[in-house]
Amino acid sequence: MGSFYVTTPIYYVNGQPHLGHAYTTMVADALARYYRQRGDEVFFMTGTDEHGLKVQREAEKRDMTPQQLADLNSAKFKATFDKLGLTYDRYIRTTEDAHKAVVTEIYKRMVANDDIYLSKYEGWYAAADEAFYDESEIEDGRSIETGATVEWVEEESYFFRLSKYQEPLLEWYKSDPNCIRPESRYNEVSSFVASGLKDLSISRTTFDWGIELPDNPEHVMYVWVDALTNYITGVGAFTDEERYNKFWPADLHLLGKDILRFHAVYWPAFLLSAGLDLPKQLFVHGWWLIEGKKMSKRDGNWLDPNKLVEQYPLDVLRYYLLREIPFGNDGNFAQARLCERNNAELADNLGNLVNRTTKMLGSFLGGVTPAVSLAEEDQPLVDAATGTWEQVQAAIERRELHLALELILKFSTELNQYIQRNQPWKLAKQEDAKPRLEQVLYNAVEGIRWVAVMLSPFLPDTSARILGAFGVESSTFDTLTWGALPAGQTITSPPVLFDKLEAPGAKEEAKKDDKQSKKQKKQKQNDGGAKKEESGIIKFDQFLKVEMRVGLVESAQRVDGSDKLLLLQVNVGEEKPRQVVAGIGKAYAPEQLVGNRYAVVTNLKPAKIFKIRSEAMMLAADTEDGGLELATFTGAVAPGTRIG
Ligand code: ME8
Ligand code: MG
Repeated sequence: MGSFYVTTPIYYVNGQPHLGHAYTTMVADALARYYRQRGDEVFFMTGTDEHGLKVQREAEKRDMTPQQLADLNSAKFKATFDKLGLTYDRYIRTTEDAHKAVVTEIYKRMVANDDIYLSKYEGWYAAADEAFYDESEIEDGRSIETGATVEWVEEESYFFRLSKYQEPLLEWYKSDPNCIRPESRYNEVSSFVASGLKDLSISRTTFDWGIELPDNPEHVMYVWVDALTNYITGVGAFTDEERYNKFWPADLHLLGKDILRFHAVYWPAFLLSAGLDLPKQLFVHGWWLIEGKKMSKRDGNWLDPNKLVEQYPLDVLRYYLLREIPFGNDGNFAQARLCERNNAELADNLGNLVNRTTKMLGSFLGGVTPAVSLAEEDQPLVDAATGTWEQVQAAIERRELHLALELILKFSTELNQYIQRNQPWKLAKQEDAKPRLEQVLYNAVEGIRWVAVMLSPFLPDTSARILGAFGVESSTFDTLTWGALPAGQTITSPPVLFDKLEAPGAKEEAKKDDKQSKKQKKQKQNDGGAKKEESGIIKFDQFLKVEMRVGLVESAQRVDGSDKLLLLQVNVGEEKPRQVVAGIGKAYAPEQLVGNRYAVVTNLKPAKIFKIRSEAMMLAADTEDGGLELATFTGAVAPGTRIG
């Protein structure tokens, strides 16, 4: 198998990590896991960018040495990534001696290639971006693009002949349209370079927190030369030839669009100058915004990933971050959306699929996978599985991680529909239907195993919990052949995979709504009460008094000692499901109800039935043959939706 080398930007240590940093590193983690499970040798590197004016100034402000500040914050980044379970192979720091040696060597190579000359820099510099800006790029003392404050700089400086690389860079872009993705960024960079390149100042003399130039220790290296070089330090450039040859050029540099120019123009030019190969691909993603504004330390509108992961399960956070925005675009971070996606896509779809299937396998087949052969009528399900996996792989190769997740969850929906169509609870009651029952339940659990394996790079905990309950040890992708789940395997029902979540603040909103509607109701009552009722006809406001909602049955069991009563947990859109005792046990098996939506009366006074408190009423009608049928919803209606 091949190798895969993925990097994240190395983060500035002037502050602590925020969600944006965690995001890029999480994307790299999902990809690293994916290639590992394909069988590739993976090297995933992240770390911290520790030199430069920005860090030195922050240290001065805090009365620390730059090294102390770097040690403090680098450790915070590392602890955050560890807390998030991110599986980096190397955490690099630019203050490591090994890195200094590589930066010195790349500089010597630039000199040897006649790309360095001494001159004087006169112009604008923004410490916050560690970037030089042209007069045309600033307005009112700030960078137009980033808003960072600029200051005038005049000093002796070594220059890198960037202008010499205009044509070679354009050739590189042309030779491989995939070298910079998405296309919009590729176009942006190509036209920027085509418009002309000026030589680049790459050393400073007015501060000293950096790597000294070997031929003139009065100068420290421009922090971007230092920082970008980390990508080759990490794979043993100039020291470990075997390792370097295995992993360089990098397969993928991930970065945010804030640092596009450094990665897509400067970095390849430095590499060309030093006679080194160019990375295979830069993928440039967008920004997480808070109320439309880039989340950043400078603006103080940042979220702490350490807190978020205490508030939400790690996999739910991963799911939201990787699923919510098409990878590459900007997007707003909203906890209400996170909860919505969790509730609808993880809990109701996937969680419910796993729960109902394993429960049915338990009660109908003793929790053991049967030996079956594939029925012709089930071929479409198998085709859907293999088709999904092909599309998922293609999406990941295109770095469309959001699409990969969408496809996997869509297959989970198809499995739910397969169960719905084949009604194993009915088959279980028919004497001669056992072979079909076995086929249906085998396909359902095998389908879930596929979902768990496909999801494993994205939702590693969830995947491990499902596969653990299935007694399946391997989640490598070579297990994705239909029927690989053996017969005779004991399968248990894992504990609830996803709890329903409510966004902070949502309760207050709901209370407000409730108060308002109570007020309205009261008014209506007064209006209606004054008039006399006639001949069983009621007024609309009287009808409104009965609160009927769509209820999703989350679990169902028989009430001990009664063949008629079932005890249900019904989600009616509230924080907790309602407990309902319903006299439908002769018409429905408990398994048959789970995951389905029914009409429920939710404002009756709670009653005790068989000594069990019942908090709502299921609506049903008698059938002609003396049975009973529940009022059912089959479309996409959210639990809690008011009926009327
Ligand atoms: O630029 N949304 O470091 P940095 C999404 N040290 N991603 C975000 C984000 C947001 N709101 N904010 C930050 C540097 N990021 C240099 C890099 S590399 C050789 C040197 C992520 O601490 C995104 O990946 O400012 C962005 O490019 C990076 O953090 C910038 O981190
Ligand atoms: Mg930044």
